[in-house]
Amino acid sequence: MSRLLYIQASPRGKRSHCIAVADAFVEVYRQKHPDDEIMTFNVFEASIPNFDGLVVQAKYTILHGKSHSKEELQAWREVEKVIEQFKSADKYVLALPMWNFNIPYRLKQYIDILVQPGYTFGYSEETGYQGLVVGKPMLAVYTRGGEYPAGSETEAFDLQTRYIEVIFGFMGFENIHSVVVEPTLQAGPDVAAVKRREAIEKAKEIAVVF
Ligand SMILES: Cc1cc2nc3c(=O)[nH]c(=O)nc-3n(C[C@H](O)[C@H](O)[C@H](O)COP(=O)(O)O)c2cc1C
Repeated sequence: MSRLLYIQASPRGKRSHCIAVADAFVEVYRQKHPDDEIMTFNVFEASIPNFDGLVVQAKYTILHGKSHSKEELQAWREVEKVIEQFKSADKYVLALPMWNFNIPYRLKQYIDILVQPGYTFGYSEETGYQGLVVGKPMLAVYTRGGEYPAGSETEAFDLQTRYIEVIFGFMGFENIHSVVVEPTLQAGPDVAAVKRREAIEKAKEIAVVF
């Protein structure tokens, strides 16, 4: 039995294109793997610790090889809980819209909690940086109002797919499947509906072999 972590990073619920596509993936996945556990985690609804002064201090305490103060330890336990839940999964689905050419701020907050030395990445002088979340597949479903195709003038504005690939790659992910739904706004609702249907078909195909 495997555990699938389904991370939703849109606050738009039933109106969300990325959640609709990822839901279609999950439905097929569930049929193929009826005994697997599926954990759904919406970053706008879940409680995610603030990455505030105390947590930053706790992080630097680790980086400097020192022991946490009582206060730091308490704050750090909350960070550890989020990381433990994340790492307990065997497979991941991430549904996210583009916001201001990048990712929604709540997803960034979640990532800032996850990316910690000794937990999701390691460093040594011999090997340099090494991801610690390895051998686990991910499907990323990206939505955006405009279009950012490879080779176009707008491609450089797409910091959404680039950031996800870089940061999850840094944590060790090598096998990131992606499905893009675009444009969801720029060309009107009819085009958006077609693109969404196409993305759903692609996501379902990936679910069969995921
Ligand atoms: C705060 C905010 C910022 C956005 N920024 C961009 C952007 O930079 N580029 C773009 O193409 N679309 C942008 N959009 C449009 C969304 O990416 C688009 O509506 C997408 O379909 C939303 O995904 P969802 O339906 O899964 O929530 C933005 C939307 C919001 C709410």
